[in-house]
Amino acid sequence: MIHYFDTLIIGSGLAGLRAAIEASRHGSVAVLTKLYPTRSHSGAAQGGISAALGNEEPDSPEWHFYDTTKGSDFLGDQDAIGIMCEDAIRTIVELEHMGVPFSRTPEGKIAQRRFGGHTRDFGAAPVRRACYSADRTGHAILFALYEQSELQGVASFPEFQVLDIVIENGRCSGALVLDIQSGDLHTFNAKATLVASGGYGRVFKTTSNALASTGDCLSILFDGGIPLEDMECFQFHPTGLYGLGILITEGARGEGGILVNGKGERFMERYAPTIKDLAPRDMVSRAIMTEIREGRGVDGKDFVHLDLRHVDKKIIEERLPEISTFCKIYMGIDPSENPIPVLPTAHYAMGGIPTDVDGRVLGDEKGATIEGLYAAGECACVSVHGANRLGCNSLLDTVVFGRRAGMAIGGYIKDADRREIAKGPSDRVKADMNALVNSTGDEKAGALRSEFRKMMMDRCSVFRNEEGLAGLVQDLKTIKERTKYVGIKDRGAQFNTELLEALELNHLINLGEAIALSALQRKESRGAHSREDFPERDDENWLKHTFAFKTGRGIEFRYKPVTITRFKPEERKY
Ligand code: FUM
Repeated sequence: MIHYFDTLIIGSGLAGLRAAIEASRHGSVAVLTKLYPTRSHSGAAQGGISAALGNEEPDSPEWHFYDTTKGSDFLGDQDAIGIMCEDAIRTIVELEHMGVPFSRTPEGKIAQRRFGGHTRDFGAAPVRRACYSADRTGHAILFALYEQSELQGVASFPEFQVLDIVIENGRCSGALVLDIQSGDLHTFNAKATLVASGGYGRVFKTTSNALASTGDCLSILFDGGIPLEDMECFQFHPTGLYGLGILITEGARGEGGILVNGKGERFMERYAPTIKDLAPRDMVSRAIMTEIREGRGVDGKDFVHLDLRHVDKKIIEERLPEISTFCKIYMGIDPSENPIPVLPTAHYAMGGIPTDVDGRVLGDEKGATIEGLYAAGECACVSVHGANRLGCNSLLDTVVFGRRAGMAIGGYIKDADRREIAKGPSDRVKADMNALVNSTGDEKAGALRSEFRKMMMDRCSVFRNEEGLAGLVQDLKTIKERTKYVGIKDRGAQFNTELLEALELNHLINLGEAIALSALQRKESRGAHSREDFPERDDENWLKHTFAFKTGRGIEFRYKPVTITRFKPEERKY
């Protein structure tokens, strides 16, 4: 089936829907998702969205800007960070007007709570900057944006898996897509294509990310010659539910929860004496792993406790109902009566598809753009989060830069001509799919995926070193070779999930290679990229973004300077 739209949006999370609302003011819009729009992973974001409203105590966009830059370990681009922090207040008001049910103060203002790395007076003390809807903030915003996109007449295509994003002669002309339900191939011709397909946390064994977060579109673009930026910078959230990786929001610490080791010590007092448990995630995750490595895990095991027992029960009921339910269902414990066992969990990709501040995809480190191709949200790297994202800045990033991309697309499609994907790409995709669905090898996608995710976790997670990364790169080559022998038993067209698993496995390994090789190159420690063999940050040699390119000779690297407009790199103490 062949479709024509002015704008094609891939992904129906917050960035995609916010962009769709904007672009639909200027022409027809299709939103594709491999899920159902309101099942997008944005809906799993719990704790809040940041904005210096100052509703509960004095705050300013300038402090937000400083905290985000320092949180990023000075790898964030300050032109983009400045835009995001300045636009935050307007964004929250707009979301409220769209119907987001934010939690309230007793006087009826939007309530705000503390979150990691958010401070007043340039680091003096924690500040309440996170606006929230209990601990279901992403869910609340997702539903409001979906309603608005429906009102705007955006066409939605659920359960559509992207097979290729077509770039011909330096210009994007749309995508080739599998209708999961029927097995039919669809061609979406579009003047502008926005990739807003979210993250790829499923690269790691333990993750807070949904099953669908496999980074398919990043992998497709990488294969098509688009670089990937700062892939070594992957965030581990400190408080994943032990053994499962399910997110326990940082809002739990924002409401007074503390981390405690096996000796009953509030160990964050040693690592971040000023803001303690509310230090940025990279620091807290390293602190937890250090406690465990040095034998101070609970009962000598590989977890610590998140203790909420001293927090008023009413606060837990009203502001943290979701995580309380998770603890009851998955661990059989009530967080107001028992400490929660936690361990860092792969949570957020700071790296991704490089873009300018209006979502235009960059084709190289010098800033050349690809006509008609845009990206926003977690799959993109603008880069506001640098080497470490502050909590609540991801939802803000999606909405601010989703809207900006939508506006830029609106301007572009006015004068752009109609697109028609040539027959060549579609014949190639059909042939690839046929070959895959008829493959008879002995390897199983599920088993290979488990092996792959474990090796990424063991050698490329919170701590890394040369030996581990170099071995990982070799093992990734082997596992990639083995994917050629994945057999598919289901020959049916409808809901062929075995086929989808095989496709996703290839994408995951593709991204795993980019992460491991980028991490091997960066010989310093910065933010979430922590090298045991290079424990210091090295601004002289590494204050720059990694651009990984897939070439006929393998993955190659070039670098781009960080944009510094306001805050010079300084020692990162909390
Ligand atoms: O901890 C959390 O609620 C996560 C929020 C975020 O990643 O921004």
